[in-house]
Amino acid sequence: MKYFVANWKMHKTCAEALDFLEYFKNISLSKEEYVIIAPPFTLLWPLSKSLQDSKIKLSAQNMYCEDKGAFTGEISPIQLKDCNVDYVIIGHSERRNIFHEDNELISKKLKKAFEYNITPIFCVGETLEQRQKGLTFDTISNQLSAGLAKLSEDEISKIIIAYEPVWAIGTGVNATPEQAEEVHLFINSFIQKNYFKNKNSDVKILYGGSVTPSNIKDLMNISKIDGVLVGGASLQQESFLKIVKYKGEDK
Ligand code: 13P
Repeated sequence: MKYFVANWKMHKTCAEALDFLEYFKNISLSKEEYVIIAPPFTLLWPLSKSLQDSKIKLSAQNMYCEDKGAFTGEISPIQLKDCNVDYVIIGHSERRNIFHEDNELISKKLKKAFEYNITPIFCVGETLEQRQKGLTFDTISNQLSAGLAKLSEDEISKIIIAYEPVWAIGTGVNATPEQAEEVHLFINSFIQKNYFKNKNSDVKILYGGSVTPSNIKDLMNISKIDGVLVGGASLQQESFLKIVKYKGEDK
């Protein structure tokens, strides 16, 4: 099964989002194609109604690590569940860099999501500077060990990791398939070695960063890729559809 996650970031009004889904939810999806839409918070409820009889799932783009309380401007996992949300993106580089989320907060959010049976899509990735200094693997292993610190083996086996090199996000410069593969294999073996010594894990790893209809095929051909997390190219029905149906055949 391959995941195709649309991260709409801070885009779309309610009418635009419903229009997108009116078209998209009539697309027939094979068992291999698992589509998740991550709209802004204000659209979760209307989209959950629109997707009631559809295979398409909903993700939030963020959530807070408490059940409820005096946290002005935040959203709790209870509220996400209320909107039929099954997934939540945690630790996106825009949250880390623009809103200063640190590893400690991210690890609390990951734990809290599991408490409510919401599957986290946990983002990791290096900046250009870190890559140029040869710090890619150090950065990713730090993010992984800090983020996963509070999780049980069972929770780690259910998490979805998204490798999103910061220099590839919104820049039009995607990681080459070789660069993405190297990091995906590293993440896979890091998790296997540190959390699943005695058995085989099959942790899901997505790639994100300037995914388009033109590069999807090459990216999906690398070893250990379970799907993609798409920003800009998920905003138009046609381009997102081309990404989901990258194999070309109409199933
Ligand atoms: P772009 O696809 O626009 O580069 O964004 C990637 C991303 O941040 C998805 O979470």
